[in-house]
Amino acid sequence: MTTLTSLDKTLVLVGLMGAGKSTIGRMLAGLLGLPFADSDQAIMERAGCSIDEIFATRGEEGFRALQKEVIAGMLDGAPRVLATGGSAYLDPDTRALIDREGIAIWLKADLDTLMERTRNLENRPLLKGGDRREILGKLIEARYPIYGLAAIAVDTDGKRHNDTVETVIDRLKAHLRAL
Ligand code: S3P
Repeated sequence: MTTLTSLDKTLVLVGLMGAGKSTIGRMLAGLLGLPFADSDQAIMERAGCSIDEIFATRGEEGFRALQKEVIAGMLDGAPRVLATGGSAYLDPDTRALIDREGIAIWLKADLDTLMERTRNLENRPLLKGGDRREILGKLIEARYPIYGLAAIAVDTDGKRHNDTVETVIDRLKAHLRAL
């Protein structure tokens, strides 16, 4: 286990669908001996239904309102690793909270990587009903400047998960040293 002695904040993974937030988050939590949590999972538990159903009944705005509430609760406690849904860091209040109570880590991936990694994702409402490459391209354009505000950005293209996790830990150590 790697110990980061000065870590007193939650590590919050942000980025687009397919970036690897949950997979990398679990691995990171395991290596650092921290609990892992996933905001989409917590939202589904709170709502008692799937993300698809939340979008169908409350719309994207309703989902985002719930997400904001749930993430605020998840940042209010002992440090952990938190994987967030792709829209979480876009909300200014949630972003400010994440940056205050946690350390935002953006897992960055280019369009080809995201196309490959979302190939089998069928439960993402935003990826339905259109050309996936076009949808993801527009999301990259709209969101990457905002994800770019994260304290740490890690490029994941062409990297195995193990290498990405190692890079995240190295970048975290440098970030904590610089504080
Ligand atoms: C969304 C991303 C999804 C989920 C919802 C909306 C988005 O989470 O929260 O479908 O707007 O980017 P992941 O980023 O974990 O796939």
